[in-house]
Amino acid sequence: MDTSCLVTGGSGFIGQHLLVNLSRHGYSPVVLMRRISEFPLLCQRVTELGGNARMLSAVQGDLSQPGLGLDAAARRQVAGCATLFHLGVQFAWGLSPAQARKVNVDGAQRIAQLALHNDARLLMVGGYMLCNAQHLARVGVKARQPELTDWPAVYRRVGGYEGSKLEAHYRVHAEMSVRSGALTVVHPATLCGHTQTGHMLPGQPFAELARQLSERRLRAIPGSSQHWLPLISVDFLVELIRLAAFDPQMIGQSLLALDARTPNLHGLVQALAQVLQVRPPQRHVPMAVLKALLALPGLPNLLEVEPESLDFIQRERFDLSQTNAFLQRHKRDWPAIEQAIGASARYLKATFYAAS
Ligand SMILES: NC(=O)c1ccc[n+]([C@@H]2O[C@H](COP(=O)([O-])OP(=O)(O)OC[C@H]3O[C@@H](n4cnc5c(N)ncnc54)[C@H](OP(=O)(O)O)[C@@H]3O)[C@@H](O)[C@H]2O)c1
Repeated sequence: MDTSCLVTGGSGFIGQHLLVNLSRHGYSPVVLMRRISEFPLLCQRVTELGGNARMLSAVQGDLSQPGLGLDAAARRQVAGCATLFHLGVQFAWGLSPAQARKVNVDGAQRIAQLALHNDARLLMVGGYMLCNAQHLARVGVKARQPELTDWPAVYRRVGGYEGSKLEAHYRVHAEMSVRSGALTVVHPATLCGHTQTGHMLPGQPFAELARQLSERRLRAIPGSSQHWLPLISVDFLVELIRLAAFDPQMIGQSLLALDARTPNLHGLVQALAQVLQVRPPQRHVPMAVLKALLALPGLPNLLEVEPESLDFIQRERFDLSQTNAFLQRHKRDWPAIEQAIGASARYLKATFYAAS
């Protein structure tokens, strides 16, 4: 088995758990890091999360730099990696298109070029919005002919982060397919924490929802009883990522990583509120009303809701037949999402109280 692989975004939330999973299964991940001085700290975190940090090594690099900022020694080290896991991303609401593109689009293209150059397999992490055909059409993405998409208009509609994730996906696809590269894409739903420990990093969208609730800033539930925020637990996601990356049948395929049994937003808020011991809001505010309010200058700050974040709350349901067939082939079952939601809420509650 060829065990050496490159991981971008290894210090991030999903990345840390992927390093745990890969190292426990005998792989030797090389982590591309902007600040290699933080590698010892990353090793400590991976150990705390149950991984084998002795399997890890790191190279200094930066997705936003030409040649990924790799020096000659790092290039040689990376050349030995048969699989590249691309998770590195600049995530924030309110990014300008230029800021977002620099890492999320140009960086992803550089990783695709590296995979092609090294004849390596690329596992790219996308996002479940790419599996929502109605949403893509609504925001102006021409999914069948992406080269005809007016990207500046898409960025104006969905914001820098989501726009750059969508654009990166199609650019990487085009790059890899023209040169017959081996690409597999995993599209995760919004992440909740580890099914058992609830571990999660601050700043994650799920953690922000819990924080709003615990600080009693969530006065109404966005949307209707049909709206939901599809979730997946981080431990199950990284298991799917590893299985997909080394599955020959997944070359040229994509996998939607989303738990269809996620409760609706009302149910999710109730479950979080119970653990956080706060009174949950009961009323709904229609999405159109909320979006119209948030278009007024100053209101996003006042309400502390980012308009971009609302796109992830939706009514659409997804076809998971391919994912379920994949799971069956690998003899895996969906873990209980309510358990992951409860564990995450308990973990976040402990974190919030420790911080205050
Ligand atoms: N979290 C979710 O709910 C969710 C849902 C769907 C899809 N995804 C996708 O999953 C992937 C991983 O997400 P995540 O939540 O784990 O991200 P995250 O916690 O925000 O971590 C981002 C990672 O990217 C690295 N990074 C940022 N800019 C970089 C640069 N210029 N060069 C090299 N590395 C850079 C960061 O490294 P530093 O330590 O240097 O900052 C960090 O390791 C992304 O593609 C994201 O879009 C996430």
